[in-house]
Amino acid sequence: MMIKVGVLLTFLLIIVTATHAQQRPALITNIEGRHTVDLNGRWQTIIDQYETGYYDYRYQPSTDGYFKNAKPKTPSDLIEYDFDASQQLNVPGDWNSQDQRLLFYEGTLWYKKSFDYQKKDRTRLFVYFGAANYLADVYLNGQKLGRHEGGFTPFNFEITNLVREKDNFLIVKVDNKRRRDAVPTLNTDWWNYGGLTRDVNLIEVPETFIEDYFLQLKKGSADEITGWVKLNGARSSGGGKVVTVEIPEANVKQTVTTDASGYAPVSFKGRLTLWSPENPKLYSVKVSTDADSVGDRIGFRSIETRGTNILLNGKPIFLRGICIHEESPLRGGRAFSEDDARMLLTWAKELGANFVRLAHYPHNEHMTRLADEMGIMVWSEIPVYWTVLWDNAETFLNARNQLDENITRDKNKASVILWSVANETPVSEARIKFLKGLIDHARKLDPTRLLTAANERHYADPNTQLIDDPLGEYLDVLGCNEYVGWYDGLPEKADGLTWKIPQNKPLIISEFGGDALFGYHGDTSVRWTEEYQKNLYEHQLAMLKKIPSLRGMTPWILTDFRSPRRPLPRIQDFYNRKGLISSRGERKQAFYVLQNFYRELIKEGK
Ligand code: GCU
Repeated sequence: MMIKVGVLLTFLLIIVTATHAQQRPALITNIEGRHTVDLNGRWQTIIDQYETGYYDYRYQPSTDGYFKNAKPKTPSDLIEYDFDASQQLNVPGDWNSQDQRLLFYEGTLWYKKSFDYQKKDRTRLFVYFGAANYLADVYLNGQKLGRHEGGFTPFNFEITNLVREKDNFLIVKVDNKRRRDAVPTLNTDWWNYGGLTRDVNLIEVPETFIEDYFLQLKKGSADEITGWVKLNGARSSGGGKVVTVEIPEANVKQTVTTDASGYAPVSFKGRLTLWSPENPKLYSVKVSTDADSVGDRIGFRSIETRGTNILLNGKPIFLRGICIHEESPLRGGRAFSEDDARMLLTWAKELGANFVRLAHYPHNEHMTRLADEMGIMVWSEIPVYWTVLWDNAETFLNARNQLDENITRDKNKASVILWSVANETPVSEARIKFLKGLIDHARKLDPTRLLTAANERHYADPNTQLIDDPLGEYLDVLGCNEYVGWYDGLPEKADGLTWKIPQNKPLIISEFGGDALFGYHGDTSVRWTEEYQKNLYEHQLAMLKKIPSLRGMTPWILTDFRSPRRPLPRIQDFYNRKGLISSRGERKQAFYVLQNFYRELIKEGK
């Protein structure tokens, strides 16, 4: 019987994979290096809780939905919506933080942007979304372009043959309803911010253009750059296109010739200053053909493990980290801008961090671009969180697609050193199969980086925490969250604990911490006070220092953040208060405990 289920599941996976592959257009990368038209700004919106703009009254998809942007032609015409007379919202930006009526809203909201466009000869046009949470149906001039599922990764659609000179209307149905079979699933500990949460651009490219490229140091090498370039366009299908890769400052100029699919492997040596937190060296790189040219800024470094060590450019490092949610400090709501990213990463640096865990989903590209510039290493993660549906083929493909889009977007970012495939997921056969599928996919896409996840742990005896999650076998670096002193006993419990990690791999404690309301004071026994949180950090850090294979930590979390799971009046008020900084930018006492700890590590040369 078991064999039959396995065969059926595999068969299903093949079918579903095939359909997925057809639907998803190739993702264009490095938007900053392209010719773009910015569609950010005020968009007209319609709240559509009953999806009247999508389904007819028999709950069948309507052919005359809001995406038609219909207008009455005669005084007797019946049209029951009007984008142009409707409320406007800012894009990028979640809807929850822009309108009190929408703070808790989970459902569909329609967006419309009108624009004129001066068509150019031999030029193709794409519309590119940095992200839309959670399910986006995109239409141009009443025609469906496609659908994207996943709230934190980019997607684009070609509109070359649909766009016109005047009065284009781009309409997007965004639905942030949580679903059991989605990724993430129904239960998370973060706010379900919905909407067009990141930048929207038009991208102009030649008929045959440079769609994507991968240029990174071979793992363990100090001077061999490997990768590939990929062209997109009718003419590229004939193959034989010459692509040039130039790194002028390193005296590199390499040409390769594409095959019939527009693909060409790249491999060459260069005398390079390697990227590191101490010297985040970025090179100007130009990839060009006779018709296209894309400029990028790329850092070259190698990241690998040896036993329990993590080696950056061949040298052991310790990851002095902090977790960060994608929430804009001070303004509230989803972070989306370069200013938001600069504020968050500057606060992390102020702590003494050289590493950030971007929880629990891919953050906007400003974060990873800025991490490249500021020399901050990154743990990048997809929202396979807690209890996703492990034995559902569609759920797996959705997770794999989000992983694929995350790696596609950030594979040339030196700051990204770890891809994480899961957070606190319960051990089971189906979960291992699901996550191993993601790990294998990541390694295929990117052989240069390390794989990790926040693994499970359990008490071997009352004084011994054991990390022997079977998932560890497939990872390069073991992550593990633990809350000794908050969910697990009081802070002093940490003093008597030892940790056993049978696998000979580097360990990152990927979460620990406790809540404190800024300005609430009492003695260390009073929960929710800054003194309690400070005391917890002191006991935690003393415990963690003793773990021989500890090579990093990312305490939970840089700033307080909104969560529907945290209603306690006058203390939480729907905020998770484990931040070292309040949602108004105030530093709690524990901030300085961690800052001093990292300063000591820096003195010790870690
Ligand atoms: C978990 C989880 C976080 C959550 C945290 C908490 O470890 O990974 O997403 O916010 O605990 O309970 O505060």
